[in-house]
Order: sequence, then structure tokens, then C-alpha cells
Amino acid sequence: MKVLLLGSGGREHALAWKMVQSPELEKLYVAPGNAGTADIAENVNIPVTNFEAIAGFIAEKDIEMLVVGPEDPLVEGIRDFLQRDSRFGELMIVGPGKDGAILEGSKDFAKQFMKRHGIPTAAYMTVTPENVSEGQRFLTTLQPPYVLKADGLAAGKGVLILHDLKEAQQELENMLGGKFGKASSRVVIEEFLKGIEISVFAITDGKDYKILGSAKDYKRIGEGDTGLNTGGMGAVSPVPFADEVFNRKVEEKIVRPTVEGLKKDGIDYRGFIFFGLMNDNGEPAVIEYNVRMGDPETEVVVPRLKTDLIQLFRAVATGRLAETALASDDRYCTTVMLVAGGYPGNYEKGNVISGFEEIEDSIVFHAGTKLADGQVVTNGGRVMAVSSFGRKMTEALQRSYMNVAKINFKDMNYRRDIGKDLLELGAKH
Ligand code: AMP
Ligand code: GLY
Repeated sequence: MKVLLLGSGGREHALAWKMVQSPELEKLYVAPGNAGTADIAENVNIPVTNFEAIAGFIAEKDIEMLVVGPEDPLVEGIRDFLQRDSRFGELMIVGPGKDGAILEGSKDFAKQFMKRHGIPTAAYMTVTPENVSEGQRFLTTLQPPYVLKADGLAAGKGVLILHDLKEAQQELENMLGGKFGKASSRVVIEEFLKGIEISVFAITDGKDYKILGSAKDYKRIGEGDTGLNTGGMGAVSPVPFADEVFNRKVEEKIVRPTVEGLKKDGIDYRGFIFFGLMNDNGEPAVIEYNVRMGDPETEVVVPRLKTDLIQLFRAVATGRLAETALASDDRYCTTVMLVAGGYPGNYEKGNVISGFEEIEDSIVFHAGTKLADGQVVTNGGRVMAVSSFGRKMTEALQRSYMNVAKINFKDMNYRRDIGKDLLELGAKH
């Protein structure tokens, strides 16, 4: 099988790392990839949203399967674009079409979808410039804090959580006025959900689904969940508080109704679904859907999969998931993200990274790295994820941190408290 994977983050290195373990893989290309994917596959210098160039490459190299890592090409309709092309009748695509990707591309759509299909989520109202005063009134009916979300994709920055009513009302106007550009021309106001966040990952062929695993990520830059939001500073899988009872609720109240809902709505969804959930005293509710895997969650969920990823992806793309068995490692996997000093604000690029090649008992997934004059250098805010297994979460974390200490680049930063909250929650883990 000749496969093209789109993306360049730790998520894509983890997917590539797993795909190259498949005996069915003949050749893997990654566009645009990073220094980690260059080591195990062939990088191709094509941006993920250059559909014409991607189509040209698929035709030229007789690619049989396309796996889409990030959301942008999905929301912009890469699947639809390729399927309109008669050359690609046989091409297997892992990733939904535009009609499915809108679950991530529009928060208003996602809320309507959940309401229509009885999937638990926070109460909400969608506001446009035409009904601002209704929106202002809706805010007064809520308890603080107030949650305001840009409807469209805003590079993970479109959510504001505000403690003061006046400020929330002002921000509502700012957002509608273009604070996040076109993405906030519609704003979803939501009730604030209490509890602990957890992410659950599934894959579907539009008929059946498999749950790939659960993970918790650490979004803030600072220890103790302080400071600015990032793409994610570390992750743990599985999540110890997600016991059998909770997992059953997630599957029955959320995962299954979502896949059934897509079917009922006539959406032929083939790809990942990332459920961002809140666990409020054992009751799950959806915070958001993403139509891709998480990053850095992939770096802990994918290593635990014991299933051949090419076989799984083929089943997803061809609608034969029901015949596929999924197995996963019951050990913990943890990852610690190494980031550039200054991230998520301004940071340097091009600093040489040392010490990662000798690491054997962790898996080093590259994120923002590239090759320059034969050396691996930093090329993004999130630079590398160090993933480790352990029978106990503490063991996995110790291994990740031991190996993090061997890696070095100028102004390297990381959180020293990944998993700490979970350990405090349940000392037995
Ligand atoms: P989202 O982009 O929808 O994932 O929102 C970003 C973050 O804001 C989430 O990961 C949560 O931490 C928080 N958040 C979003 N919506 C809510 C909500 N309704 N209640 C509480 N926290 C929320
Ligand atoms: N780590 C969160 C995300 O991938 O959206």
C-alpha cells in the first residue's frame, strides 16, 4: 500500500511511526512532515491545504490511501475535492468530507447536531449581529463564568471564558465585530460545565465505530494549569477516572448516538472523531467535537494500539470496520511535550536539538522540527513529545521525565506536572 499522510506535527509522526510497522505498507509519504517523519518515511514539500498539488502528487505516485492529520484540509473539503476527480475513484481516504468536518468547523452546527440527537452538552445560544440583544439577555440568565465561542475555526484561540457579566457582554460585541475575523461572525454562548476534562477518540466507517482510547491533555503553558493556552503540553492514556461505568456512559450516551446521528443526517463519515468531554461527577457531556486526532493525545493513544493501522484505515475507508478487531495495550502511556522558550508567544526557531537519538526506552515523536545542514533543529513552538509506557502511570511518567532530561536545545521548556492531578485524584494509580 502506498500512503500519503498530511500534516507535520507530533500527531503525524505518531501515526507514521505506527503505519510503518505494518507489513502492508509499501511506501509512506508525509506532506509536509518534520525531521521525525523524514527518518521513517519520505517528506514531500506540499502544504496541507494545497489541494491541486496534493491531487497531482497522488496521481503521479499512484497513492492508494490518503490519511489526513489536521482539521484545516478536512473542513476545507479535501475529501470532496478528490472525490470529484475521476482519477481517484479507488483512492481510500481517512477523514470526513465537508459535511462531516463541519462538526469541528462550526460550533453552532455541532450544538444543533447534539440537540437534534439527544447528546448531552451545555445549554447554548447562537448569536449573530442580528440578535445581539437576545444574546446579551441570554448571558444574564447564566451563572458565571461565561463561555463565548467563535463559531468557526480560530486556531484553537476562539474560546473566551469570562467571570464578569459586563465583560462577557462587551466581548460578545467584540467577537461579532471581528475579534477572530470571520470565525466569530457567529458566536456560541454556552453554559459553563463543571468537572474534569477527558478526551475520547473513536474511528468510524460511517456505520460502525471503534473506540481507540481515552486521554487527558494539559493545555496551559504553566504548571498547575496556569498561564496561556497551548496546543497541549503533555498527555496521559488511559485516564484513570474513566472507569468501566463512565466509559459505558460515554459510549452509550455520546459515541453511539453521534455515529447514529451522522447516519440519520445522511453524512457518510469515514475518519476519526475526537470527543472533548467534561466528566461532572461521573456524567459525561460533550464540550466539542474534532474531526481529527488530538495532538499530543495521539502520541499516547496510538502507541497503545495493538492493531495494524493500515488494516484499520483500510477498513474505515472501505466501510468494513465491523469485521476488524481492535486491541490495545493495557499499560499507561504518557507524553511530555518539549516546547520552545516563549511559546505560546514569540519563540526562536532553528536551534539545534541534541540528546534525543540515544533514547531507547521512550518514543521521541517530533513535532516542530526540521533538518538543516544534517542537524535536527527546532521549527515550531511545540518541538518534541517524549512518550513512555508503564504498568503504573507513575512509572511511565518517570521514564518520560528521565529521558526529557537527556534532551537539550536553547530555551527548552516543559511542564513538570503532567499527570500529577490524576495521581492526586486516585493515589492507587
Ligand atoms: P473548545 O475549543 O471548545 O475545546 O474550548 C476550549 C476549552 O475551553 C475547553 O477545552 C475547555 O477547557 C473550555 N470550555 C469550552 N467550553 C466549555 C464549557 N461549556 N464549560 C466549561 N469549559 C469549557
Ligand atoms: N490537544 C488538543 C487538540 O488536539 O485539539
